[in-house]
Amino acid sequence: MWSKNTFTERLNLTWPILQAPMGWLSSPALAAAVSNEGALGSLGMFGYSAEDAERRIAGFRQQSGGSLNVNYPLWPRSAPRSETVERMRKRLEPHYAAKELGPVPYPTNSAGEVTAEHLDMLLRVKPEMVSFHFGVPEPDIVQAIKDAGIFIISSATTVAEALALERAGVDAIIAQGLEAGGHRGTFSGVDLSLQPTLVALLPQAVDAVSVPVIAAGGIADGRQMAAAFVMGASAVQLGTAFLHCEEANVLDAHRRALLESNDACTLVTDMLTGRPARYIRNRLTDDLIAAKIEPVSFPAQLSLIAPLEKAGDPEFSVLLAGQSASMGRNSSASTLVKSLVEETERSLRRLLS
Ligand SMILES: Cc1cc2nc3c(=O)[nH]c(=O)nc-3n(C[C@H](O)[C@H](O)[C@H](O)COP(=O)(O)O)c2cc1C
Repeated sequence: MWSKNTFTERLNLTWPILQAPMGWLSSPALAAAVSNEGALGSLGMFGYSAEDAERRIAGFRQQSGGSLNVNYPLWPRSAPRSETVERMRKRLEPHYAAKELGPVPYPTNSAGEVTAEHLDMLLRVKPEMVSFHFGVPEPDIVQAIKDAGIFIISSATTVAEALALERAGVDAIIAQGLEAGGHRGTFSGVDLSLQPTLVALLPQAVDAVSVPVIAAGGIADGRQMAAAFVMGASAVQLGTAFLHCEEANVLDAHRRALLESNDACTLVTDMLTGRPARYIRNRLTDDLIAAKIEPVSFPAQLSLIAPLEKAGDPEFSVLLAGQSASMGRNSSASTLVKSLVEETERSLRRLLS
């Protein structure tokens, strides 16, 4: 049975489907709707204080008794270089002027870490799963979370990264193919041109590690899910497909761009946040790539870009999306989970008949 395995049993899931954590775009209402269908809802904690993170988890618990994944992207604090900042501010000046946004601000910076406050909160509130992006935290934090009985996962973009995560003690690994929307989860410095697509990465990761592997990247319907299970996945993680759902906290400009997307409209660049991520191409990505200047370090670069979104123009918005964006459907998350299950079963039946 494709839907039952050690991973689903451990996390008490009816369906091996994860809604990807997507920062503030993954609302408690979205995660709850997914978990209420027996799949796994996720809350992204990018930029949230421990107090706000706890509030988001409480919002989920009010709406669902199902399992929850809480996600932390990890990165060190870095001091943006002043020449890089000035060059970037100058490049953005005409766009700010055209949208009457005033002077381009100076960047604000932060670190992405599981602080003592976040760790205390996690050990007290005990979400069923904690996931990381860009590697894993220090061994003592991983151990403390595991000792509390919480399941840990993180993303790998190559087999070498999958092996490194297994050595660091994760309970399962997300194989993130190059098709994926959002930030590349890479943490080993491997060049983008060397990172495999899901159809190449998934079976090689499954063969290399002994923990369950979750397939992510470009999955938007049951045919692709069936293929992932045939290749050895224990579960699938979908991000962009859930962005289309009415419960997702997505700006109108982003929704419009998703509706108008096609198979060849996304690209990976580090120019919007300082780290490589996949977006729907627009005038902003084209202009910053053409500038041939360096981005400010992550995530300070995003603090220079984010104000441009206020004007609501898709051409100057941060349109994170994967290569299957055009396969999305405007439905509730509950309908999406039901349809994905039904399509996967139909695809597997057709294969065997
Ligand atoms: C809008 C958006 C935001 C994302 N933010 C996060 C995040 O905060 N943490 C994380 O682990 N992954 C994040 N991801 C990546 C997903 O975990 C996953 O790898 C990806 O969505 C899979 O590809 P798909 O979008 O084609 O389904 C994000 C993806 C998208 C589309």
